[in-house]
Amino acid sequence: MGVRVAIAGATGAVGHAMRDVLEERNFPVDSILFLASERSAGKKMTFRGKEYAVEELNENSFKGIDIALFTLPKKLSRQYSPIAAKSGAVVVDNSNAFRMDPEVPLVVPEVNPHAIKRHKGIIANPNCSTIQMVVVLKPLHDAARITRVVVTTFQSVSGTGREAMDELLAQSRAALEGKPVRAEVYPFQIAFNVLAEIPNRTPFGANGYTEEEMKMLNETRKIMEDDSIRVTATCVRVPVFIGHSESVNIETKKKLTAARAREILSTAAGVRVVDDPKGGVFPMPIYAAGQDDTFVGRIREDETVKHGLNMWIVADNLRKGAATNAVQIAEHLI
Ligand SMILES: NC(=O)c1ccc[n+]([C@@H]2O[C@H](COP(=O)([O-])OP(=O)(O)OC[C@H]3O[C@@H](n4cnc5c(N)ncnc54)[C@H](OP(=O)(O)O)[C@@H]3O)[C@@H](O)[C@H]2O)c1
Repeated sequence: MGVRVAIAGATGAVGHAMRDVLEERNFPVDSILFLASERSAGKKMTFRGKEYAVEELNENSFKGIDIALFTLPKKLSRQYSPIAAKSGAVVVDNSNAFRMDPEVPLVVPEVNPHAIKRHKGIIANPNCSTIQMVVVLKPLHDAARITRVVVTTFQSVSGTGREAMDELLAQSRAALEGKPVRAEVYPFQIAFNVLAEIPNRTPFGANGYTEEEMKMLNETRKIMEDDSIRVTATCVRVPVFIGHSESVNIETKKKLTAARAREILSTAAGVRVVDDPKGGVFPMPIYAAGQDDTFVGRIREDETVKHGLNMWIVADNLRKGAATNAVQIAEHLI
């Protein structure tokens, strides 16, 4: 018997990736339902060569659904996830509506798959920047106990969704043609610029940090099940279409040489070491885009502290940062 799957938010950037990942991983789909807003109702999406009409999301959408993959704006996740769960579906939610709810597991399958079984109908998919970081940090934490993390992210515009990708393309064209650049999704021009503000149009917190930066602290602690880890983050939007990059500095209790870290990471699930200092080889978003693994390179010792490492971590935010992680959780469920 296959699984009856719904994708809520199917027409978005992550929704399309979810459809692709379900196909590629041969997820045992018995039936599939594509849900989006009224604007998209009737549009066609294909799955395994068959065309399906997108349906408008409503309170009755989840009857007879086993697994509902949610990739909706937070407000709608908050509204519809409990409805879907009440209808008997298990929801894997991509928004940050439930991530820090103590009743809701926050899961990265390479890190804390055991948390899945505690679910009460809703499982949260972490923030994209956090997912790729913890996939790499967990094996190093197991080997040497990480005490502190300093991370700076370089996040692609697809992290904001489909409209932001369109805006980067339109602004790049306009700027190259010497025409006026219009900023609508972001408050400032993103083409040929960088913005140290994620999410946009959200006031910085009282401590000066953005919401995304605080997510990287709080979600890392919850997923790694260790509240002693200190994480300080600066999250930056860059004019890249797909793929988030991160400069990550860690301090550990025990000494880890760069060579030992490479060795540990070379056998870690979901991680690919792309690190040849002599050959000038390191991970890049253009190569990570379309891939499910998390790539790590530039691994080197931090010579300013007793036990420290620097590294460069890159992953496809639409895939491992969202769709692939959600489908992996669904695989654990079945
Ligand atoms: N992008 C990433 O890398 C990433 C990573 C992790 C988590 N997330 C989270 O995933 C969620 C979706 O992100 P995204 O990047 O895929 O956004 P997106 O490209 O803007 O897509 C949003 C989706 O939500 C649907 N939607 C919007 N309003 C709706 C309504 N009133 N009723 C029903 N459906 C509605 C849209 O349908 P229409 O096409 O009909 O408007 C579309 O399918 C967000 O919560 C985001 O924070 C995103």
